Amino acid sequence: MKNVVLIPGDGIGTEITASIKKIFEAAKAPVSWIECKAGLNAYEELGNPLPAETIKAIEEHRIALKGPLTTPVGTGFRSINVTLRQKFNLFSNIRPAITLPNVHTPFKEVDLVIFRENTQGLYIGKEHWADDTEKHAESIAVVTEEASQKIITAAFEYARKKEMQKVTLVHKANILKLTTGLFLKVGQSVAKDFPDIEFEDLIVDNMAMQMVMNPQQFDVVVTTNLFGDILSDLASGLVGGLGVTGSANIGNDAAMFEAVHGSAPDIAGQNKANPIALLFSSLMMLEYLDEKKIADNIRKAIYKTLVEKKSACTMDIGGKGTTTTFTEAICANL
Ligand code: NAI
Ligand code: MG
Repeated sequence: MKNVVLIPGDGIGTEITASIKKIFEAAKAPVSWIECKAGLNAYEELGNPLPAETIKAIEEHRIALKGPLTTPVGTGFRSINVTLRQKFNLFSNIRPAITLPNVHTPFKEVDLVIFRENTQGLYIGKEHWADDTEKHAESIAVVTEEASQKIITAAFEYARKKEMQKVTLVHKANILKLTTGLFLKVGQSVAKDFPDIEFEDLIVDNMAMQMVMNPQQFDVVVTTNLFGDILSDLASGLVGGLGVTGSANIGNDAAMFEAVHGSAPDIAGQNKANPIALLFSSLMMLEYLDEKKIADNIRKAIYKTLVEKKSACTMDIGGKGTTTTFTEAICANL
């Protein structure tokens, strides 16, 4: 049995983590959960959105599956997601978007994965007022050669391992010449160590258009934090929405798995949340734990459910069911 810290989180988090627990039990996945609190619920209950016990548990077990955490907009505490990624130096945020059977979208045969730099860029939260009128705000972006090298190398290594042909680096080096310019320069240098993999770079606005016009041209995409955040939601949209894309945050000695989506307050507590986004994240976790066979079994059960029991699936992907019926149907197909 492997110990995994489980953070249900906010909003739909309780519903979808309950679903994962049931499916893991049905699949006989050798995982034992250590449940911890974080997010708005922890703040309201304990006065701290990231309790010390939660940090301690992650420090001890080095692996976590996390539901979404609500971050107050404009004011209030800083994003706990960003804090955790920085604290454990989880520099690779890996976000695959793959067309699923029987999930209808205008885009066919998408199979790409976004590598998002996860610890720097504009997400370091260094913002300040230029003067005391509070009418002029400034924000600082950080890009270092070391962190860029780590994420870009991780992207190339992944391409090689998964036999994907091309790495596309996305930047805005025409305008942000130093920060994303450095990222591009590091990319050009790392690419030389991977002559077997095609390398190209695109400016982010063009990339957004290309992803909609011809998403099939992309394999592995690597980019800075903010661009990666935005483009990965776009990528989710290509394959059925935020209910179907998982992600991994991986560092040298710790990893945290979570869905791309947030706490979805508009559907929270209504048994409407699609559990497969977090489930796909947990399959990435099983692979990380060298439990590929169990991950493959669960993936097969998801695909079978999408094809043969569409009515049991949640409504965001055209089903007529609930979180509960979808979960039960996947368990039945295991
Ligand atoms: P969101 O991702 O929560 O929701 C966007 C839309 O997608 C909503 O209409 C929602 O109903 C739908 N959706 C999301 N997940 C779904 C699922 N599993 N099944 C079916 N539909 C789903 O984004 P929003 O509303 O911008 O953010 C809400 C909160 O979540 C904010 O406080 C934000 O800071 C937080 N957030 C947390 C993240 C994390 O914990 N990693 C990531 C993104 C946002
Ligand atoms: Mg996001």
